[in-house]
Amino acid sequence: MLPVGRKPIVQYVVEELVANGAREVLFVTGRNKASIENHFDSDPELIRALNQGNKQDLLREVEFEELNANFFYTRQRQQRGLGDAILCAENFAGEQPFVVALGDSILGLHAHSRAVARMVELFEQRHASCVVAVEEVAREETMHYGVIHPAPEDQEGVLRVLQLVEKPSPEDAPSNYAIAGRYVFSPLIFDLLRRVQPDKRGEIQLTDAIQMLCEEGKRVLAVKLSGEERRYDIGNFPSYFETFAEFALADPVYGEGFRRALEEMLARHAVR
Ligand code: G1P
Repeated sequence: MLPVGRKPIVQYVVEELVANGAREVLFVTGRNKASIENHFDSDPELIRALNQGNKQDLLREVEFEELNANFFYTRQRQQRGLGDAILCAENFAGEQPFVVALGDSILGLHAHSRAVARMVELFEQRHASCVVAVEEVAREETMHYGVIHPAPEDQEGVLRVLQLVEKPSPEDAPSNYAIAGRYVFSPLIFDLLRRVQPDKRGEIQLTDAIQMLCEEGKRVLAVKLSGEERRYDIGNFPSYFETFAEFALADPVYGEGFRRALEEMLARHAVR
């Protein structure tokens, strides 16, 4: 529920998914995350107060009904990793392909990105079992990500994935293409997740299950994010601060004032 600019991060992620065609959204949450459910619920008292105060701009930020999506919630009862969190969605997904979006990543400034729609289209056209979004990172950063070993590009912006490694050291990284928090899966992935051995921290890694898909000869593809779709990482303080500043600078109403305040701040803090 951490905000970036005007909205909580989770709201950007939901808006991105809905803009890319999602109509049913399952949140896999944990203990003490009831604030997410409360946030997406309707709040007649807040709406009334904003109406009475003539706060039309704030009203627009809370009109979730207009998103035209249904929200569902389930809890991961133990912190057993991303793969285990995906398993919590098995009944929800049923026999259908589905999209996974990690809540610590926003794609594109103010979440304006068509990457997921492109991934879904590719998944269907190429009869893939999995499509991941990737972006290039500096070699020394590979240990923070799942990294793909790609075959040469066969279609503009699309790579066939031969292998994947979770958080490799720069020397072991098969490329500098990092998985960027968005995935499309066939329901096949659930059986593989059940076969993945927990890592040394007891976590089931999603990347290991995708690697099994590759080993079984299934088609795994990667879509490269375009420059405008870059991934804003909210999972660590330095990039959270940068993301907040960039989103605030681009705010249509308050951006200009924030820029002036920031310039004054920079002048005050200038290294002499
Ligand atoms: C997860 C995935 C990793 C991916 C990263 C960013 O790692 O396991 O493969 O590259 O998200 O999307 P985490 O940030 O949870 O450690």
